[in-house]
Amino acid sequence: MNTHPAGFPAPADGGLTPEMRASFDRDGYLVLRGYVDPVTCDALRERAEAIVDEFDPAEATTIFSTTTRAHSADAYFRGSGDKVRLFLEEEAVDADGKLTVEKARAVNKIGHAMHDLDPVFEAFSRTAKLARTAAGIGLAEPLLLQSMYIFKQPKIGGEVICHQDGTFLLTQPESVIGLWFALEDATPENGCLFALRGEHTGPLRLRNRQSDGELVMDVLDDTPWDEQSGVPLEASKGDVVVLHGRLPHFSAANRSAASRHAYTLHLIDGACRYLDDNWLVRGPDMPLRGFT
Ligand code: FE2
Repeated sequence: MNTHPAGFPAPADGGLTPEMRASFDRDGYLVLRGYVDPVTCDALRERAEAIVDEFDPAEATTIFSTTTRAHSADAYFRGSGDKVRLFLEEEAVDADGKLTVEKARAVNKIGHAMHDLDPVFEAFSRTAKLARTAAGIGLAEPLLLQSMYIFKQPKIGGEVICHQDGTFLLTQPESVIGLWFALEDATPENGCLFALRGEHTGPLRLRNRQSDGELVMDVLDDTPWDEQSGVPLEASKGDVVVLHGRLPHFSAANRSAASRHAYTLHLIDGACRYLDDNWLVRGPDMPLRGFT
C-alpha cells in the first residue's frame, strides 16, 4: 500500500499556490490540512444530527448502495437533486424494511441540495474562501451542484465502489470537481477515501444517465481499475480533499467502532454545458448558484 499524502497546510484565504495546483494536476487530488476549524466541523455535525432527529424513517426507506445500485430505481432518490432527503444504510434495514439499529445510526447520507435549502450548510458552502479555492483549481464560473452529508456509520457504513464523479455529473466539456470535508478523522480503519493517484488523466469509464424514466449505465471504456494501487487519503478533522472529476476513488465499508462523518460539495463550471440527461435534475425555481 502506498503512503498517504502529506498534503499542504490550508491557505488561510483559500487561494492556491502554484505548488498546490501542480500537485492537483499531477495526482488528481489535493489535500489541504486544517481547512475548516474544529468548531465549524462540530456545528455541521450537530446540524446533520438534528436533521436526522427530525426525520421519520417511515417517509423513506431508500437504501443507498453503490454495490447493488438499488437506489437508482427509486423516485425518492432520483427526485432528491433539489431536496434535502435521507438515505439509509443497507445493513440498517431488515427484509421487512424495518430498522435494525437506532435511527441515528441508520442513515447512510443526506442529499443533495443542502447547500441551497439548509441555512447552516448554505452558510458553510458559500464563502469567499471556498470561491478562491475553486478558482485556484480552474473553475471559471463555479456553480454548486450537489451536496451530501455522509455518515459512514460505525460497523455498518457501506462500501463505495471505485468510480469517477464525472460518471454521474457530466458537463461538456467535463468540469466536475469534488470537495470532501473531513468532519472527523478518516483512516483506513473507518473507511477513508482511496484514490488511484494520477489516473484522472485516463478516460471516463462509465456514464450514468436517464433514459425513458430509468437510470442506465453506459460503458465508455472497459479497462478495469487496479484498486490494489489505491492510495489511502487519510484525513484529519477539518481537512479538505479536492477531487478531479475523472479521478477514480472509493472507500471500504466501515467495520470499526468509529463513525467517519464527511460533507461533500460537487461543483461544475457554468461555462460548460450541464447534460440534461444527468440523474440530478433541479426544478426551474432552483437554478444553480455560485458562491454568492
Ligand atoms: Fe465520488
